[in-house]
Amino acid sequence: MRNSIFTTALGATLLSLQLGFTATPATAQNTHAAAEAQALIERFGLRESRQPVRDLGNWKVPEKVVVWQNEERLPALRAAYPSITFESVAGVPSLAAALEDADVFVGYCIPAGVNSDHSLQWIMSMAVGVENCVASEVVQRQKTIVANVKKLSGPEIAEHAIALMMALNRGLDGFIANQQKEVWDRGLLADDIWELEGRTVLVVGLGGIGIEIARRAHGLGMKVTATRNSRREGPEYVSYVGLADELLELAAEADVVINTVPLTDKTNGMFNAEFFEAMQSHAYFVSVGRGKSANTDDLVAALRNGQIGGAGLDVFDPEPLPADHPLWSQPRVIITPHVAFRSEKLRERVWILVEENLRRYVNGDKLISKVDMRRGY
Ligand code: GLV
Repeated sequence: MRNSIFTTALGATLLSLQLGFTATPATAQNTHAAAEAQALIERFGLRESRQPVRDLGNWKVPEKVVVWQNEERLPALRAAYPSITFESVAGVPSLAAALEDADVFVGYCIPAGVNSDHSLQWIMSMAVGVENCVASEVVQRQKTIVANVKKLSGPEIAEHAIALMMALNRGLDGFIANQQKEVWDRGLLADDIWELEGRTVLVVGLGGIGIEIARRAHGLGMKVTATRNSRREGPEYVSYVGLADELLELAAEADVVINTVPLTDKTNGMFNAEFFEAMQSHAYFVSVGRGKSANTDDLVAALRNGQIGGAGLDVFDPEPLPADHPLWSQPRVIITPHVAFRSEKLRERVWILVEENLRRYVNGDKLISKVDMRRGY
């Protein structure tokens, strides 16, 4: 909110009205917003779509934009686009009705919304994962454009993944459990803790998040290998980039495997019994991509059978993880409830992109971070 162009432009306009002079400062503020957006695009290497939206069949200047929550952002949006109706939706029960006559939805691929009887031209997802939009028959039929915030949560998720890896490796799961019982046990995990430096981490999915993980792991002195879906290219700190069919071979050499893959037909259930069997028995599985990419029963079995050394999990299948699920009580498992992406900075970055894409959409220009609906990310 503080850094929002629309907010500041509105403030300046109100001030100028109070002072009785004509409002001109919006130009300076627009320049500021454009510079902020440009900096974001450059820092994260965000890409423009090939075609301007005006060249796509169903584009028109939107009349109604629905925004998921974020009510406090609306006055500035209304001031910036007086001809557009902005409506905030507070929760799932009112979503379908709000989307019925909306042109744009700034929110998430919530099934109750994206599968409803809407005629959206564009969904601006404030999450990276858009599998529910890709799977929506309504979205596909209407060729609704989907853009997302790919890469923007890379730093947060990478820090979280590294935290899970280090917490497992230093045995913090066991020590925190002992702390809660006021138990001083220096023997705990004495033989299981190993040094990370020189060890190998396999990053599965070398995209916007995977690259941030790889950079940090390299900084810790680890050897970084990776797989990616599309090509073998990677930054110089990744010692080997394999394609998806090399997964098992690379997993066998890794001390830590970190899953960052999006959920697609290809990744659904890819971390299965065969995969965990390929891993080394001391190695950790860290998962910050999508829960459904792992077969949870196979993961529990691998942990129980000692096929892997432990797991640091932020994503699950199912989510939320039910209260009586065996993962909760499984030793050497650290569970966080799908929060890896969170930070105060991410919220601001997301909103800079939302505003930039809205400006582009209204002008009929090329969008940033448009989702390839065939690939699913
Ligand atoms: C978080 O899970 C996201 O998809 O951004």
